[in-house]
Amino acid sequence: MCIREEFGLTGTHVGCDTTSCGACTVLLDGSPVKSCTMFGVQADGRDVTTVEGLAGAAGLHPVQAAFQEEHGLQCGFCTPGMMLVGAALLERNPDPSDDDIRWAHLWQPLSLHGLHEHREGDPGRSEGEGRGRRSAPPDREARSEEATDMSTRRQTEIRGIGHSVKRKEDGRLIRGKGTFIDDMQLPGMLYMSILRSPFAHATINGIDTSRAQAVPGVVAVVTGELMAQHNLAWMPTMSGDTQAVLATDKVRFQGQEVAAVIAEDPTSRRTRSS
Ligand code: FES
Repeated sequence: MCIREEFGLTGTHVGCDTTSCGACTVLLDGSPVKSCTMFGVQADGRDVTTVEGLAGAAGLHPVQAAFQEEHGLQCGFCTPGMMLVGAALLERNPDPSDDDIRWAHLWQPLSLHGLHEHREGDPGRSEGEGRGRRSAPPDREARSEEATDMSTRRQTEIRGIGHSVKRKEDGRLIRGKGTFIDDMQLPGMLYMSILRSPFAHATINGIDTSRAQAVPGVVAVVTGELMAQHNLAWMPTMSGDTQAVLATDKVRFQGQEVAAVIAEDPTSRRTRSS
């Protein structure tokens, strides 16, 4: 929150807000940390690098350049964290093995969906460690090399349909300049924060919302009980099932949503949901 809302550096994203996904990764004194569960005061006197600080005066960081060149990103939401992890890895180990890269990126589970492409984009890979050269059987290896040749030929020779085209948005995304929903500021918009249960299989005896509602700027505090009064506590899912929007009498898993605080400013909602 401090990075995004106080400093306006929105390249650091909030995905899970529970130290799980890694979308919020920044470098603290050169080492990756998940900033969503770290207080701003804990960074006092420390060196914090966000994706906005990855590129230097000379241009893109080699990891950014490689991600762009190899299109090592999809929507770009978790890409800043991946690149920072890669940059920290290269700082420690300028010639990492495939395993080193894989283990470094396991830091960020969100990245696993596209780890293959990201490894291709990692400038720390030795020359010749191509996509088909790892542990593929010979026939598959041959096919991979053929595909790589075709890909190269497409880049250099083929025009029109079938010609590989660089995505225009990648340049913004690798610099942390993408605009996602959470980055938007609209006149009169409200902010919502979710209070999650620290317990699994717990009974809710009651939720006292009076202190939260008394905070200036708080517009509403919504609980499962309140939702149930309007027949909104359970909503249909796409699989035809129903799912609790906010827990009513029982919490089923740790992290389940139990209340929402809606406020005019982000500080009020955070203060009262914690
Ligand atoms: S937002 Fe911090 S780990 Fe997911």
